[in-house]
Amino acid sequence: MELNLSKSVLRAWKPGDEQSLVRHANSRNVWRNLRDAFPHPYTLADAKRWIETANPTTPITNFAIVVDGAAVGAIGLVLKEDVFRRSAEIGYWLGEEFWGRGIVTEAVRAVTDYAFATFDLCRVYAGVFEWNPASMRVLEKAGYEFECRMKKSVTKDGETIDELIYAVVC
Ligand SMILES: CC(C)(COP(=O)(O)OP(=O)(O)OC[C@H]1O[C@@H](n2cnc3c(N)ncnc32)[C@H](O)[C@@H]1OP(=O)(O)O)[C@@H](O)C(=O)NCCC(=O)NCCS
Repeated sequence: MELNLSKSVLRAWKPGDEQSLVRHANSRNVWRNLRDAFPHPYTLADAKRWIETANPTTPITNFAIVVDGAAVGAIGLVLKEDVFRRSAEIGYWLGEEFWGRGIVTEAVRAVTDYAFATFDLCRVYAGVFEWNPASMRVLEKAGYEFECRMKKSVTKDGETIDELIYAVVC
């Protein structure tokens, strides 16, 4: 499964991506905007584990963002369960040296389309920490609507902050 976009290729993670994954994931500025399950520092062992476990089933839910042949970021879906089973959460990050080129906006559009085309979903959403206007802008540009502000719902990097929820519903 590969999505060929104008600024990147989205494809499954594969052995050989480890070095590039460590290089781009091992960033405090990336980690600060993600859940604590995302390691920091990001080691080779973390990269190996991620590549082995990212896509246990098909259709895949986790894509590497590949620029000039190197995996420099990630975008994926978490399919929700039980009464939330027609919802998915989208998440993403990109190596800092590639920020500001429209790469993730294009990827979010593509993976949102893929999500609705591939799974029985009526809702794709994202949660953004209050200090992350770049991600809010990405979601707005990709057609997501701001839904609500979950006050003091996140504790990250020593602070308890708000999370903003954005969604596409169809
Ligand atoms: C957020 C992130 C994914 C954006 O990726 P990207 O490829 O640089 O995003 P794009 O280039 O597609 O768009 C970024 C937009 O945010 C804007 N932006 C950047 N910094 C901003 C800021 N401080 N305030 C307001 N807007 C900002 C850019 O100007 C651009 O909007 P524009 O096209 O209208 O000018 C990337 O910075 C990243 O990986 N951050 C760390 C991890 C993260 O935050 N993940 C998301 C968790 S919800």
